Amino acid sequence: MKQIKIEGGHLLSGTINISGAKNSAVALVPASLLSDEEVKIDNIPNISDIDALNEILEYLGADVKREGSLMTINSRNIVNKEIPEEISKKLRASYYFMSSLLGKYKHVEMYFPGGCSIGARPIDQTLKTFRALGATVIEEGNKYTITAEELVGTTIQLDMPSVGATINTLLVAVRAKGETILKNAAKEPEIVSVATFLNNMGAKIIGAGTSEIRIEGVDYLGSCFTEVIPDRIEAGTYLLAGALMGNNLTIKNMIPEHISSLTYKLKEMGFKMDIGRDYITISKTDNLKPIKVKTLGYPGFPTDLQQPLTTLLTQANGTSILEETIYENRFQNVPYLNDMGANIEIKDKTIIINGKTELKGTKVQATDLRAGACMVLAALTAEGETTITEIKHVLRGYENIIEKLENVGAKISLEEI
Ligand code: EPU
Repeated sequence: MKQIKIEGGHLLSGTINISGAKNSAVALVPASLLSDEEVKIDNIPNISDIDALNEILEYLGADVKREGSLMTINSRNIVNKEIPEEISKKLRASYYFMSSLLGKYKHVEMYFPGGCSIGARPIDQTLKTFRALGATVIEEGNKYTITAEELVGTTIQLDMPSVGATINTLLVAVRAKGETILKNAAKEPEIVSVATFLNNMGAKIIGAGTSEIRIEGVDYLGSCFTEVIPDRIEAGTYLLAGALMGNNLTIKNMIPEHISSLTYKLKEMGFKMDIGRDYITISKTDNLKPIKVKTLGYPGFPTDLQQPLTTLLTQANGTSILEETIYENRFQNVPYLNDMGANIEIKDKTIIINGKTELKGTKVQATDLRAGACMVLAALTAEGETTITEIKHVLRGYENIIEKLENVGAKISLEEI
């Protein structure tokens, strides 16, 4: 078991370079199976979620090479066999294999995916899409057997703009006969990156990044090269670290537009930032104003930054209100923040953060990935030492977090216990 120790109260200066986006990379890797040729993906983050996907690729017989951040995948010799539950439950993104295998072989056997326990996270929208495209889905407990004699394009309206269901639809519809029109699609940058990757292989997808995506099925997808886009959630997390403890902290190799919902809120609180083409510089600021925030799909305020933002709101003078509309169980960080000295009340889907409160180091837990990020930010800010257990959740999604924070002045260490 791993844990992190952080001695709080040290200012952060210098530059943090942002890695490739977890939620883009975890879709691109399974999508690579759709190609009949070799595919190269650069800027792959070195995180445990990618290791888990690599395990699935190798289990199926793909030839995978990883050299630094470059991943070369050749799926020509894969065998389409049942993916065991112990592998699929390691992460949410394992279910992208459901759709890439269905798209390519018209048959897949797999189990319910895993992922952070932040809500029920059903996959009904993905299954509805498979059925609409002509597949039969047999559910036996956690197991899904999905078969199609033929996949045929059609018009599909999602009940909610689900990121996963949108990506899964792309992965199947690229190999369906005729045109698929996906309405109420999610608009996240990760979806645009998957569509661009597939188009580079020879797919015909237009409209990714808008709520209506049109996919014309093709018979063959070939070789291609792509680079993973910068991780907007990692960038937002470190920007919040700079808001809490920065002394000219620069977040670099990022796309500021992707987190404009956060930078607008930071401006509202009183921060002045230098926002360039691929960087943002920020410093800790006094007399912060409280704000109201509601999580929404892109380009709204991302649910994945809700928990990290909570730490900053404990430092605003007055009452901030944060409403979580995407997940029903994404406040598990709150009791731990309160243990550190915060004054936060949970009322159904909303938290009320009464600031400003001094934070003090203690022993806390990373209950999920972004809750862990919230605890890291709180520990950097707190007086004294904080120990964060269950840190494996954080290592699933933040590449080299220890080194990145150490390089800008944090006193942080990873321990094996
Ligand atoms: N939903 C359904 N049915 C479905 C699909 C979704 O009811 O079939 C609901 C979910 O329960 C949730 C909402 O719709 O309430 C949105 O879910 P979505 O499908 O958009 O989320 P996801 O694809 O499972 C991805 C990211 C999450 C991120 C969300 C929202 C990956 C691997 N995961 O999840 O990332 O929070 O989009 O942006 O891309 C994280 O990185 O910490 C993380 C949880």
